[in-house]
Amino acid sequence: VNAVETPVVMRRDGAVLVVTIDNPPVNAASAAVRAGLRDAIRAAEADAEIRAVVIACAGRTFVAGADIREFGKPPVSPLLPEVASAIEDCAKPVVAALHGTALGGGFEIALSAHARVAAPGTGVGLPEVKLGIIPGAGGTQRLPRLAGLAAAIDIASSGRVVKTDEALRLGLIDAVVEGDLVAGAVAHARTLIGGAPRRTGALATPAADPGEIEKLAAAVAKKARGQVSPTKAVEAVRLAATLPLAEGLAAERAIFADLVVSDQAAALRHVFFAEREAAKVPGVEGVSPRPLAHVGVVGAGTMGAGIAVALAEAGLEVTIVERDAAALETGRARVAAIHDRNLQAGRVDAGTHTARRARTAYATDLSALGASDLIIEAVFEDFDVKAALLRDLDRVAKPGAILATNTSYLDVDALAAVTSRPADVLGLHFFSPANVMRLLEVVRGRATAPDTLATGLALGKRLGKLAVTVGVCDGFVGNRMLAVWRRQCEIMVEEGAAPHEIDQALEAHGFAMGPFAVQDLAGLDIAWARRKRIAATRDPAERTVAVADRLCEAGRFGQKTGAGWYAYANGKRAVDPLVTAIIAEERTRKGIAPRQFAPDAIVVRVIAAMADEGFRILDEGIAARASDIDLVKVNGYGYPAWRGGPMFEAGRIGWRTILAEVERMLAEDGGRRPPAAGLVAAAS
Ligand code: 3HC
Ligand code: NAI
Repeated sequence: VNAVETPVVMRRDGAVLVVTIDNPPVNAASAAVRAGLRDAIRAAEADAEIRAVVIACAGRTFVAGADIREFGKPPVSPLLPEVASAIEDCAKPVVAALHGTALGGGFEIALSAHARVAAPGTGVGLPEVKLGIIPGAGGTQRLPRLAGLAAAIDIASSGRVVKTDEALRLGLIDAVVEGDLVAGAVAHARTLIGGAPRRTGALATPAADPGEIEKLAAAVAKKARGQVSPTKAVEAVRLAATLPLAEGLAAERAIFADLVVSDQAAALRHVFFAEREAAKVPGVEGVSPRPLAHVGVVGAGTMGAGIAVALAEAGLEVTIVERDAAALETGRARVAAIHDRNLQAGRVDAGTHTARRARTAYATDLSALGASDLIIEAVFEDFDVKAALLRDLDRVAKPGAILATNTSYLDVDALAAVTSRPADVLGLHFFSPANVMRLLEVVRGRATAPDTLATGLALGKRLGKLAVTVGVCDGFVGNRMLAVWRRQCEIMVEEGAAPHEIDQALEAHGFAMGPFAVQDLAGLDIAWARRKRIAATRDPAERTVAVADRLCEAGRFGQKTGAGWYAYANGKRAVDPLVTAIIAEERTRKGIAPRQFAPDAIVVRVIAAMADEGFRILDEGIAARASDIDLVKVNGYGYPAWRGGPMFEAGRIGWRTILAEVERMLAEDGGRRPPAAGLVAAAS
């Protein structure tokens, strides 16, 4: 009966119509899927022999949401809300059979059904907020009717995925089906035949404590830090407490329609597709990664400990090697403390916690790593220390074992060259805290073999991280961009902006934390040591700002010493007149007449600086695409995702404006180098 192209097929199982959506890869609710579903419901209504309906999906998942590719294009009828209403209004019981992830519009289809059953391991959720929108097909109105306002606010504003145990508890699903899901759903549907369908939209939203709801809403607004969609999701959910379904649905749809054409939604869609693109690495597609079961970690300091925890959490066997027994004990305690915190915070159960700790072995001799498939070194950031270690590792590691360095700045090619296996060497640049931060820069050396790189990417995925492939240069993508932006901020200070003005402007723009506050938090001493180290080789014509050096000379290493760019009397960050005086002295010494920087000017300057460096990175082939650079900044450096990242935002501002700003900036910097070629091309 069905034409070959239709992604929705029907078959009968006795009196039950089984409707199967088959729209690879993730069964997105495209126009054809929506039409097919509507037709299926009509067919069920029209056929007296049909007494119930099951909606299921082929392939790896239930409907993963609306088709994001259709956003920003003219809507094609039938719209998802109409389809959802048709399902809910169906006179015959409709059961949704969920597997994989029922997300966004997919979950909304399920919420419109009269019952929901799920395979073990299924996740449901409303991730729309992460795309800068809110659910547009009844999610915010039906979810609170099933689960209550508090749970609905949490789920719709966070976008998190809810697994079956919790979904059962919250009443989001009615049963978990072990074994054949569709057969189970059909059996469930049979039990509903003859009864009145339980329509989610007809349920009354359970009463909630207004004070508690107010508190939840305030917490969401605070956490959103400039992103609109989470607060809008809360607003929509709260309407379910007061409005009849039809009015609530209309209000939800109006908010959805507003947001879907917003700049924030465009930026977040960019980030969504950028993440999928980042997985496609030139030269690695179709290359199989090497098997990974056992991973060695050398150095159990800040990074090594976090990395070891991340590995154990992903089910890998880990062996940590430290340089001596005392350092090993400190490292063991560090690792244990992270695992214990997760237990105390309720992020893991006792059994999992014990298993993870048991998966980690400790040694002081590198020979303990003979069976490792991959060894990650996280020892001191010193070329000679790392080179000596890699030579030793090369000797003890089995043939085919991969050697990875977590270096922040050092030359991965030069490190690979000290081994007999440069093709098996790469950089795995984790971010601190390594068990938490989502970004992983996978550094591809000149000699890195495709399957070595593929293994690094596969490890990233296994750890639940966002792996972005980068090439070898000083600081790779993230720290290189960071250096440029810090430098511009310091130049602006010298030119007349106060550090707190810069921090405030950038925080108001959505950055997690301004650059001076961050430096105070992280400590100024390491960068100071680095500056002293490279002072001799630096281009003498390059502009240097001496304020940070003077702060360090005065022992102001940041928060840990009670003072840095700011003062921290009784723990509170405050502008320090002493720092203001140092800055004034530096301006006088250089004969600079300070000028005002408006917040907008500060923001554009910083974005322009990053865009210029981003194009240099692209011109040099260090990153494969501009969107990879955006992902690094968004996931590792607090760039607001809803701004899309520096390259995306610069494009939004306009390449001509950005180029003009870069030219001004470079002129102020001695006028020694031209803007990046790629930027000039983009602006022409
Ligand atoms: N629309 C269009 N394409 C989608 C899509 C969607 N909703 N979800 C995933 N895709 C595409 C991806 O772009 C990718 O395409 P590619 O292979 O050409 O790069 C492909 O499907 C596979 O995606 P993943 O690589 O992400 O596959 P995973 O197995 O790792 O993850 C997933 C699967 C968990 C479903 C993940 O894709 C995901 O989270 N998708 C988005 C879910 C979402 O945000 N849904 C809400 C949409 S908005 C909405 O529904 C509005 C409604 O309220 C009206
Ligand atoms: P750390 O000083 O906290 O830890 C280094 C550890 O390595 C120490 O425990 C030390 O005992 C051990 N070690 C030194 N030489 C060793 C050897 N030969 N054999 C075995 N163990 C040895 O340093 P941290 O911060 O963990 O940094 C480690 C590496 O990670 C550096 O290359 C750093 O640049 C990089 N990195 C650091 C980040 C951070 O935020 N701290 C972020 C990303 C990368």
